[in-house]
Amino acid sequence: MKLILATSLLSLLTPVQSLNNGLGLSPQMGWASWNDCASQVTSSRIKNATLALINTGLAAKGYEYVNVDEGWLKGRSSNGDITVIDEKFPEGMKALGDFIHDHGLKYGLYTSRGTVQCSTAQYNATGSQGYEVQDANWLVSQGMDYLKEDSCGGGPNNPTDAFTDYATMRDALNATGRSVFFSLCGWYTWYAPSGDSLGNSWRISGDGTNWGALTQSINANVELGKYARPGAWNDPDLLVGTGIGSNRGEDKCFDGDTEIPQSSDWYMTNDEQSRAQFTMWCIMSSPLIISANLNQVSEYALETWGNEEAIAVNQHFRTYPEGTSVEDEIYQGIRIFGDDMEYDKSTDKGSGVNVWAKPLEEGKWALVFLNNEDEVGDVTCDSECFEQLYDLDAGVKYTVRDLWEHEDEEEELVADEEGKFEYTAEGLARTGGVKMILLTPVD
Ligand code: GLA
Repeated sequence: MKLILATSLLSLLTPVQSLNNGLGLSPQMGWASWNDCASQVTSSRIKNATLALINTGLAAKGYEYVNVDEGWLKGRSSNGDITVIDEKFPEGMKALGDFIHDHGLKYGLYTSRGTVQCSTAQYNATGSQGYEVQDANWLVSQGMDYLKEDSCGGGPNNPTDAFTDYATMRDALNATGRSVFFSLCGWYTWYAPSGDSLGNSWRISGDGTNWGALTQSINANVELGKYARPGAWNDPDLLVGTGIGSNRGEDKCFDGDTEIPQSSDWYMTNDEQSRAQFTMWCIMSSPLIISANLNQVSEYALETWGNEEAIAVNQHFRTYPEGTSVEDEIYQGIRIFGDDMEYDKSTDKGSGVNVWAKPLEEGKWALVFLNNEDEVGDVTCDSECFEQLYDLDAGVKYTVRDLWEHEDEEEELVADEEGKFEYTAEGLARTGGVKMILLTPVD
C-alpha cells in the first residue's frame, strides 16, 4: 500500500518525460503545404490537396496527414487566443479540419517555438513562446492531429533552450488529452539523441529544397540511425517534387495548369532526383511527407511516391527478440558503403556513391545503390560492404527483387566458395541514379 502511494505520489511530482502518445510507430506519411506554395497557402489549396491525395490513390497507400505549414496564423486576440488570416482561411481552421476529417484524413497545423514564425517579413505572425498551454488547447479545439513546431524567433539555437521550449509544448500537448503527433523542426543533428523524449520526429538539417540540400540531409543522417525507433524518427525534411517550385511572392505561386516559374533553388532538376530522394527516405525510415501540388506533378512523380513496395521498406522493420539491447535494434537503414555526397545545382555537378541497407522482417534486407557522380555508372557492394549485413547467411540463397522494376531478377544472390557476397547495380543514372533491391532468404 505504502509502495503504491509512494509511486503515485512520485508520478504526480515527476514532470512528464516523454510524449508517450502512441503515434508514429512507423514513420509518418502525408502531405504538407510548404514546398507547394509556401506562405501563399490557402484553405482552398489545402482542400484541393486533400482531394488530390484521395484521387491519386496516395491516401489509400498510407499518406494520411494533411499539414498546413506556415502562412495561416495571423496573431492573437485580446485574450491571447490565436487568430487566423481570414482572407486565406475564410471558414476558419476548425471547418478546414472537419473537411479533412470528413475525407478520412488527419489534420496538421504549424507554429513556432519562438516569439514569431519564420516568414515574418510577410506575415509577422506570432509564435507559441509563452503561450504553449493556450495554443495547445486552441489548436486541439480546431481538431489538430499533428503539430509541426518550427524554431524561428526562438532563443539561441542551443540544446538547453530548444529542449526547454519543446518540452513545454510536449507537456502542453500531453495535457490536452488528445494524441497529437509532435514534429520538431530544429534543423540540427544534436536533436537526435534527445528527440524521442520530446517528440515523434525531429528535423536534423536545414530546409531540403533541392537535391544539393537533400544530399546534405542524407550525409547528416548517416550517424543518427541509432536514435530512430518506433514513435521517434529522424526527419531529413519534406519530399520535393519536380517542376513545381513555389514561392516567395504571389507571382511565383500558381494554381491550375499554368507553367510554373521556378524559384532559384526550390525544386529538383529532374524526376530522377525526386525518385532518388524518395528511395533514400524509404531506406532511412524518414517521414514521407509529400510537399508539391499533386494536381501538377508528373505521372513519374506520382508513380515514385506511390510505389507500395518502396513504402513497405519505409514502414516496416525487423522485430527484435525481447532483451535485445537498444543499440542492437536497427530501425533506420545504415550506410554500408561510400562517403558523403555533394550536388551543386548551378553547375549540375555531383559526387559520391552510396550503398545503404535496412533489416526487414524474416531475415530480409532492403538495399539502395545510389550513384551521385557526374557520369552514368555502376555501384558495387563488395564483400566488405555485405559483411555489415549482420545476419546474412552464406549457406542461404537470396532472391533479388528490383523494387522499381517490380520484378525478381533471374539470378539469386549466392555467396562464393569463400562465403562472400557481392552485388553490382549497373548503369545507374548520373547525379541521383538509384536502384533498390529486396533480398529474401529462400528456404
Ligand atoms: C522553416 C522550416 C520549413 C518551413 C518554413 C516556414 O524554414 O524549416 O520547413 O516550415 O520555416 O517558414
